[in-house]
Amino acid sequence: MRIKFVFNGREIEVETHPGRRLIDLLRADLGLTGTKEGCGEGECGACTVLVDGKPRLSCLTAAIQAEGREVLTIEGLRENGGLHPIQRAFVETAGVQCGFCTPGFIMATYALLKENPDPTPEEVRAWLSGNLCRCTGYQQIVEAVLLAAKYLRGDALRVTRNEKTP
Ligand code: FES
Ligand code: FES
Repeated sequence: MRIKFVFNGREIEVETHPGRRLIDLLRADLGLTGTKEGCGEGECGACTVLVDGKPRLSCLTAAIQAEGREVLTIEGLRENGGLHPIQRAFVETAGVQCGFCTPGFIMATYALLKENPDPTPEEVRAWLSGNLCRCTGYQQIVEAVLLAAKYLRGDALRVTRNEKTP
């Protein structure tokens, strides 16, 4: 069967079947491997993507559920060929270590900051409680989300490691 949906801002039509998982459609059929598969059982959040703006575990979502919807993955966040402010914030706070969990955290953060542009650390922890990270101890991730929120609100200058101050 063929399904049509908006994928990272572009309408596409693909062949799939009812037993196919969304994560397999994204990674294997469409070749975009930014979305990660950790547990494959709905426990780790590594496979989080946005469907109509809401976080969804793509390992537990049927590909056919994308029909007529908007699907956004980490690859869709690129801004003018560069990193999205949320990605920059994760890099700058060392919220990325091995990086396996990062796309899931970033997509969940994107949804959080759309809904709540100025979350408290407790709200960040609660929202991200379904995403697991083995490396960071979570504190840097909370810092990354709070910094990203500042960037998106325009409250902080963007600074990257390679930018030189005049
Ligand atoms: S891979 Fe989907 S929740 Fe772990
Ligand atoms: S950075 Fe390694 S699992 Fe989170």
